[in-house]
Amino acid sequence: MSEYIGYHEIDAATDAVRARLTIIPEVALILGSGLGELAESIQDPTIIPTREIPFWPVSTVPGHKGRLVIGELEGKKVLVLQGRTHYYEGHNISKIGLPIRVMQRLGIKTLILTNASGGLNNDFYPGDLMIIKDHLALLPMAGENPLRGPNLDEFGPRFPDMSAVYSPKLIALTEQVAAEMGIAMHKGVYVCLSGPTFETPADCRFLKMIGVDAVGMSTVPEAIVARHGGMDILGIATITNKIDPDGTNKASHQEVLEVGDQLAPKLMRVIRGVLRKLA
Ligand code: HPA
Repeated sequence: MSEYIGYHEIDAATDAVRARLTIIPEVALILGSGLGELAESIQDPTIIPTREIPFWPVSTVPGHKGRLVIGELEGKKVLVLQGRTHYYEGHNISKIGLPIRVMQRLGIKTLILTNASGGLNNDFYPGDLMIIKDHLALLPMAGENPLRGPNLDEFGPRFPDMSAVYSPKLIALTEQVAAEMGIAMHKGVYVCLSGPTFETPADCRFLKMIGVDAVGMSTVPEAIVARHGGMDILGIATITNKIDPDGTNKASHQEVLEVGDQLAPKLMRVIRGVLRKLA
């Protein structure tokens, strides 16, 4: 197989998923570390373990189940990816885009991305939620772009516009929903680093200087592939740990999972509210 994802892999994976669907999903959700429980509230779900889908980059991280859960939530037909795959697991960055390509082949136009992240902004605390208004594509700037390789013209152009990766409409809708529920949400810039190391104090000072509010190890590659294919994206970062004002990050994966568990119900309320109001 080529080092890049192509139509052959995408179509084989899509066919395997489609063969098991009883409904056509309209909205896709990708759930981050510790947030997988959201999928449990889907009624009468179709569950597809991702290891049964050809070419799917399989997730190996504790706290990530690795399955697609398809069903109805708040009157919308949703496809939830519980357990995403991360670049640090060793997959070629192009492969991180495969789940997004399958969603696009299924005709899904709206994507909700969630993640666990470290709060670098001084006003952010564990348990907070941040609407991603933009991302800093640090990995792609360094050459690791999921669109590197032959362009897949059936999905989008060679040089895609990234001037509004995260849909201003979905951001406005989410802010309205959260305000109505009395749930405070920050809005800020997310950066994806390769991981799996957490940041050194010098990393943190650098990231703060270049305008980052929240730091994680996901979301950006998926958002780039999604935008290339013309999807409308909503990104919500959950703050699972604080990066101290002096730039010290003493996060542990355990803490990330525990805080994720605690804030999941709040995130779920927001996502349900957004789904209810989606056109
Ligand atoms: N840094 C990077 N990724 C993360 C963090 C962090 O502090 N917390 C959760 N994911």
